[in-house]
Amino acid sequence: MEIRRIIELLRHGTPGESIKVQGWVRTKRELKEFAFLDVNDGSSLQGLQVVVNQNLPEYEQTLKLLNTGSSVSIEGELVASQGKNQRVELVAKAVQVWGTADLETYPLQKKRHSFEFLRTIAHLRSRTNTLGSVFRIRNACSQAIHQFFQDRDFMWIHTPIITASDCEGAGEQLAVTSLNLQDVPLSEDQTVDYSQDFFGKPTYLTVSGQLEGEIMASAFCNVYTFGPTFRAENSNTSRHLAEFWMVEPEVAFCDLQGDMDLAEAFLKHVFKSVLEQCPEDFEFFNLRIDKSVLETADTIINSEFERITYTEAVNQLEKASRKFEFPVEWGLDLQSEHERYLSEELFKKPVIVTDYPKQIKAFYMRMNDDDKTVAAMDVLVPKIGEIIGGSQREERLDLLEQRIVAQGLPLEDYWWYLDLRRYGTVPHAGFGLGFERLVQFMTGMANIRDVIPFPRTPLNAEF
Ligand code: 4AD
Ligand code: MG
Repeated sequence: MEIRRIIELLRHGTPGESIKVQGWVRTKRELKEFAFLDVNDGSSLQGLQVVVNQNLPEYEQTLKLLNTGSSVSIEGELVASQGKNQRVELVAKAVQVWGTADLETYPLQKKRHSFEFLRTIAHLRSRTNTLGSVFRIRNACSQAIHQFFQDRDFMWIHTPIITASDCEGAGEQLAVTSLNLQDVPLSEDQTVDYSQDFFGKPTYLTVSGQLEGEIMASAFCNVYTFGPTFRAENSNTSRHLAEFWMVEPEVAFCDLQGDMDLAEAFLKHVFKSVLEQCPEDFEFFNLRIDKSVLETADTIINSEFERITYTEAVNQLEKASRKFEFPVEWGLDLQSEHERYLSEELFKKPVIVTDYPKQIKAFYMRMNDDDKTVAAMDVLVPKIGEIIGGSQREERLDLLEQRIVAQGLPLEDYWWYLDLRRYGTVPHAGFGLGFERLVQFMTGMANIRDVIPFPRTPLNAEF
């Protein structure tokens, strides 16, 4: 018999169809002569209501096994539902219980659990309503991201996870520790001491695929990465992870203006597409997590992002009527409270801040004519602050060399990066979107640890 996904049955199932579903029992409601099960297979927020009655062989024994958490395959016939929450329900004709779950010990009980508690059972929390919706939205976001770039003729490139260079120059790299193996002979006269030096030099987990992205953009014009990145920031905040996913487009023959236009079109597309694909999940977040989720989506899709320079932003912050915890002064980096003030309170929509002081930005950003600021842009959004960081890159060899030296980075390590400026250099630009910050922003989830299946943060790497 045909196995069907529950989302599809809820949307298109017709009474009279004989079908089979499989999933996990969320709840069981026993009445005198029959019982209702809520079965969920992860395809939708809502489960399928299943009626189990005494026509079922071994009704009593089977019913005992059908506790919350048990896994089942159920064959039966769809009937029109009496309840107002669903169009159809399933009358079970045959039930196979694959795995039971002990009521006493199964950690996911009917009541609402705190997200803190759910983090301690990350292996089970995907079966809850909220995390289920988060991960469906996460999937829809991934799809929308690829769609956006593929439709615009961008090539998806794969950049290395293990690297010897520090893209951001911020010293936040996690070191790749060497394997503790014995010397293994490569050939008769060559050995590698694996305990010392597998790659022959210190290596790290990548903080960004940008530099390799620039290499590929120098051949294919429009490229993007979408992969894991790592940062050893010791910041236990609700917006930082040690392992997070980043989307990094890189575009040849593009300036800062084009970069901002791309970022804005990109966010608009992703919101629109996910809203279309996951309407029920969006409604759920709006109702249960954050009442402004749908309004925010509407603002992203329909309003023009504000664009101001860093200098203007500092002026606005200095004029702000409210006190900030961190100082506001030209030359200092904006803190998340400042970023949030600008987008949440002052403009009430996304704000793109450009032209930051050179001393607070990475070496690769293009120097402006004032010799004080660089062609950087950060996209700031309500509740999150910075969601995207990008820039036009320095394409002039001499200026790039000066910046690398000025930031105390070893010039010789960047010989290949400098070669891109020696041979056929072009103006180019790109940005990085923190994927989890996007999902957090979209769903209204308060903590970034609850939008990635297995969060990695200081002192936390279970499994
Ligand atoms: O602003 P960042 O550091 O920019 C770069 O890495 C550039 N190389 C990107 C580029 O131009 N190709 O990081 C980009 C984004 C941030 O705006 C933020 O959304 C996210 O990555 N991000 C983090 N997300 C979660 N946890 C962390 N620890 C993050 N650090 C940065
Ligand atoms: Mg940044």
